[in-house]
This record gives sequence, structure tokens and C-alpha cells, in this order.
Amino acid sequence: MEETATLILEGKSYELPVVVGTEGEKGIDITTLRQKTGYITLDPGYGNTGSCISEITFMDGEKGILRYRGIPVEQLAEKSTFVETAFLLINGRLPSQKEFISTSVALNDYSLVHEDMQIFFQNFPRRAHPMGILSSMMNALRSFYPELDNTLEEANKTYLRLLSKIRTMAAMSYKISNGQKVVYPRPDFSYCANFLNMMFDSPVKPYNVDPDLVQALNVFWILHADHEQNCSTAAVRVVGSGRVNIYAALSAGVAALWGPLHGGANQAVIEMLMEIEKSGVTVDEVVKRAKAKDDSFRLMGFGHRVYKTYDPRAKIMKKMCDTVLSKLKTYDPLLDIAKRLEEVALTDSYFIDKNLYPNVDFYSGIVLRAMGIPINMFTVMFAIGRLPGWLAQWKEGAEDPDWKISRPRQIYMGENVRDYIPLSERK
Ligand code: CMC
Repeated sequence: MEETATLILEGKSYELPVVVGTEGEKGIDITTLRQKTGYITLDPGYGNTGSCISEITFMDGEKGILRYRGIPVEQLAEKSTFVETAFLLINGRLPSQKEFISTSVALNDYSLVHEDMQIFFQNFPRRAHPMGILSSMMNALRSFYPELDNTLEEANKTYLRLLSKIRTMAAMSYKISNGQKVVYPRPDFSYCANFLNMMFDSPVKPYNVDPDLVQALNVFWILHADHEQNCSTAAVRVVGSGRVNIYAALSAGVAALWGPLHGGANQAVIEMLMEIEKSGVTVDEVVKRAKAKDDSFRLMGFGHRVYKTYDPRAKIMKKMCDTVLSKLKTYDPLLDIAKRLEEVALTDSYFIDKNLYPNVDFYSGIVLRAMGIPINMFTVMFAIGRLPGWLAQWKEGAEDPDWKISRPRQIYMGENVRDYIPLSERK
């Protein structure tokens, strides 16, 4: 017999279906709740609300588990590439050898962006934040490359086009913001190598692509590739549910990611660590401030809505800091500060009691800094990594014949009905 949940309201009892996921996660299906009872549920921030049924990513926040299409992120970080992981997320399975080659070829073929788009970039003020630029350019892409979605093949073309062009646009915006000549993508480079080359190659100082950095970038982007119904992905799904075009939905995703509580935390973490280094304030003082009730300051890169233990991505990222810095024979004092901060926080009852652990953003900035990525591009790096997830989640929604428009309800607590007072009668 199928399990149900019994709800008793005003003396009447209602049976609600229970949905059990493939990993045993349980949910109460309240789709008919209002119709049957007149009640809605109230869940600000949607901490207990499942907005969809998905086959893409599984997270267990208590155990620190993250899997894409069933494959543990640790295995993907160790053995896969970003392109292969993107294919996995979007298509639900690893590519065959033939598919892997054709995907790589397509990513090369689609890597250029329309020359006229450079004019857009050039006209943003020099101090414009790259996330604002990326969000606008993402939306603008639609005017240059109308959406193709009549067939599966056409839709795939759009996904590959987006995966390829986001990387070109990101590097392009960096070059233009520095007043430098744009470096074009090269067909002989892999996805990640191409990005590094477009960012750092210049006519006066040719860039030597370091295979270890390429590997680090692959891991960095794999770790960011999807995270089920997080703020930006939810934004893509919500905006997409209005049947807007894919570029507009992704542009909303980029905008949502920008916030310091979400993807913008990687920039906020490095700024916090730099501030600690510059001001000479002790790590204990910083932790004390983060705990103070009357201070809005938070330890950036700590805490997570789902993880109540160490974020599995942060574990890999922390190790990567050591690998990348030692490979580059670089010392970064911010890594010492970060490790000390983690040590103090993880032995403090405030952080222990609230299950606050480092998240992916805590160590990622140190890796990016070592690669030479400027701070204001950190969240753009997150966005490039998250694109496969956004695409997979968009696709899952779009292929669902029952994709309903997102339209939460509310509990109104405002004024009761009252009459309009003409302006002449008001003071
Ligand atoms: N420093 C100090 N206190 C914190 C922190 C923190 N980083 N994070 C949460 N808390 C406290 C918070 O004040 C609250 O205390 P109380 O119960 O006394 O009011 C309690 O812990 C629960 O926090 P919450 O804000 O209700 O939890 P949430 O699930 O709504 O927020 C979060 C999750 C990630 C927004 C939050 O932990 C935070 O602001 N962290 C810092 C920003 C950050 O690192 N964001 C990146 C998240 S990972 C990347 C991504 O996928 O977006």
C-alpha cells in the first residue's frame, strides 16, 4: 500500500500522498492541499519545499554527499573533465567516445562570438562588474543567435553554443576591461586550456598553458557544475517556467548567482581574508564578530542551506589550494589565514551548534588567485562552471509535459479593506 501522510485540520482528516525518491528522500505531496482544505503551506526561503522532481543531482546535506546523475563528485573531480561532466549533466549519461569527440568539435565550432558583441562590451563603463556584464550579454545572445529548440538536435546545438560562448564572453570581457586586444579561441586547445589562453595570452607576453592549471580548472568547474535547486538554478527554473527564452532564463540565473550569499561569496571570502591580512585584526576577533547578534557580519564561505557537515566540494578545493600553490611554487598568506579561521570556527560552539562548516567558496578564491584570475571575475568563474547545471535543469523542466508556471502563494498580513481618501481631504 502506498504511504500517505494524515493531516488533521479543524477536526477533519486528510490523506496526502507521500513521494519517496530513489535515495529514500521523503516528501509530502501537497499539490491538492488548497483545493481540498483551503490552506496553503508557509515556507519562506523554501527550506522545506520541493519545487520539482529531478533526476540530475543528489545531495545529502547530513552526510556531505554530492552526486551528478548518480556519480560521486569526488570521482568526477579525479577522473573526468569539465566538458564530459557537462555532457553527463545535460544528457543523463557519460558520452561515448564518438560523442565526446563530436562535443569537443562542436564546442570549438561555436566558440566565436559575433564581432558586433564586442561593441557592447566596449561600451560598458570600465568599472562595471563582470557579473552585470555577463548577465546582460547572456540576454543579448538571443538577438544574435535565435533559440533553436524545435528538435532535440537543435536544442543540443543551443546548449553547446552557450557552453562554448560563455567562456569566450568571459575572457573577452576581461580583456576589454583591461583595454587589451581580445584573444580568440584556438581549435587546438581544450575547453579549459582555451579559456586560460584567452584570458592571459598577449602579443607582448605569450602565455604558456600549464597542464596542471588546466587540470585544476577542470576540477574547479566540475565542482561548481550543479547543486540541485539552489538560488540561481531555482531562478532559471522559475523564470523559464513562464516559457521565456533560454537566454533570458540563464541571464536571470547569472544575476541570482551574483549575490554574496550565493556565488558572490567567493569574491566576498577573498575580500574578507585580504581585509584580515591588511588590518592585522586577529582571526579570533573575526570569529567573535561573526557570532555577534547585533552585527550583520558573517563569516563568508561558511554555512550552507543543505550541508550540515563539511561541504564535499570544499574538501577537494582545500586540497587543491595546496596542490596548485606548491605546483606554482607560490606562497599565499591568505591560505594560512583561511586555515586558521577554519580551525578557530570549527572548535567554536557557535559554529558547532549551528552546523556551520566551510562551503565551496571558502577555499576557491585562493585557487583562482593563484591562477591569476582577478577578484572581480571570481563569480564569473562560478557562473561558467554552473552553466551545465542550469542547462540540465532547464532541459528537465522544458521536457516535462506538466511544467507548471512557478507561482508561489502568500499569507497576506496587510490592511483590511478601507476606502480611498481623495488627496484634497488628506493632510
Ligand atoms: N557566519 C555566521 N553565522 C552564520 C553564518 C555565517 N557564515 N551562516 C549562518 N549563520 C548563522 C545565522 O546567523 C543563523 O543563526 P540564528 O539561528 O541564531 O539566527 C544560523 O546560522 C542559520 O543561518 P541561516 O541564515 O538561517 O541559514 P540559511 O540556510 O538561510 O543560509 C547561507 C545559508 C549560505 C546563506 C548562510 O550560511 C550564509 O550567509 N553564509 C555566508 C555566505 C556564503 O558563504 N554563501 C555561499 C554558500 S555556498 C555557495 C552556493 O552554492 O551558493
